[in-house]
Amino acid sequence: MNQPLGVDRPPVTYDPLDPKVTANPYPHYAQLRADAPVHWLDSMQGFVVSRWDDVTAVLKDGKTYSSSRFWPALLGEYDPVPEVPPMISLDPPGHMRIRKLANSAFVPSRVGALQEKIVSVANELIDVIFEKHGKSGEFDFVWEFSALFPVSVVADVIGVNLERRVDFKHWVDDLLSAGNRAAYGPERLAEIERSSKAIRAYFEDIYDQRLAEPREDLISGFIQAEVNGEKLTRSEVLNLAILLLIGGVETTTNLLGITFVHFKRNPDALAAVRENPERIPTVLEEVLRFDGPVQMLFRHTMRDTELAGTAIPQGSLVLPLLGSANHDERKFENSESFRWDRDPKEIMSFGQGPHFCLGSFLSRMEARTALQILLARFEELLPISDEVQWMDSYFARGPKTLPVRFKAR
Ligand code: HEM
Repeated sequence: MNQPLGVDRPPVTYDPLDPKVTANPYPHYAQLRADAPVHWLDSMQGFVVSRWDDVTAVLKDGKTYSSSRFWPALLGEYDPVPEVPPMISLDPPGHMRIRKLANSAFVPSRVGALQEKIVSVANELIDVIFEKHGKSGEFDFVWEFSALFPVSVVADVIGVNLERRVDFKHWVDDLLSAGNRAAYGPERLAEIERSSKAIRAYFEDIYDQRLAEPREDLISGFIQAEVNGEKLTRSEVLNLAILLLIGGVETTTNLLGITFVHFKRNPDALAAVRENPERIPTVLEEVLRFDGPVQMLFRHTMRDTELAGTAIPQGSLVLPLLGSANHDERKFENSESFRWDRDPKEIMSFGQGPHFCLGSFLSRMEARTALQILLARFEELLPISDEVQWMDSYFARGPKTLPVRFKAR
């Protein structure tokens, strides 16, 4: 479809439904960028877009490339609130209505006020690890630190109960894995359905409680807010709260896990931050570029169009590959190597255009602070194995579990 007739190219190897590919998608992305930058994928019934400039063009042109099928494409029948689209699946002008409301909760001044909370959550989680495992030994970094950390920071802000934080992680993991539903058998699908129902039931309960007795949290705020003289509906509030939980928790959890995977693979990066913690922000930007927590987004075309010489008919699913754009050799020198001091000025990891990540400031602040505290309190903290068990998702990327060996300071 992309190549001139008569030119022989090897068949495209990228298949997001193949767990071996999602474990290390990068060589497959490189082949796409070289041979088929806009490529029809049968398995996804959509066009994958792999070069930086083309991904940017798609994300900035919301009129041609609508977000409205994002949630339906990702979650299908497992969408916990199928009756209304969440903000991430809205196009202008409806998108701006909700985004403005959510923006006000995430401006840097309000997020900055969470810094103290971030420090205390990180320290408390580490105290629990030392109490449970002593001053040296092994623990699971994902299940005992990174999955609990962001949710503990934002639980009060959103208005959810911390006691359910392990459930949240299971529910969100299951929801995100719904993207692979075509490849699953009935047992896995039943689990995903249970999680989808559980997350909805949980937020309906919270909605009713906050409606009766408002508190100082976002859910109470969303229930009371008026945008252009209109209140949000119950379903809109549920959707926004679930989106914030998915967006605010899973991605930062994964960023932290991925960072330690790369500390293991790149001892020079770990040595650099141990020597000077002021290098943490630079290293994190390279982790975000090299192996970001969100690999793919979903758009669909509102009209016939053309991208990188490929005709895309109206109504097609288009999948911008953020992880591939971040490895584009046209944009980054030596793009396939991890260089802790690269300091990339621009990265695709938080998207571009009108849906640019609402939580980029918060997640960077959380990850930087967590790393500072972890490095200060652990003399040694590294994954035990070079093998990583990655999450079951082509959309989100992160270790499913990460056994680490540690020594307290
Ligand atoms: C490393 C961490 C994070 C990454 C890699 C990430 C990535 C992204 C990306 C790529 C998008 C664009 C979606 C699109 O264009 O369709 C996005 C949107 C969004 N993110 Fe994040 N995110 C992170 C952290 C957070 C946090 C901490 C929050 C909230 C507390 C959050 C909330 C959102 C929301 C609500 C949207 C939708 C914005 C809209 O539709 O206008 N994210 N994120």
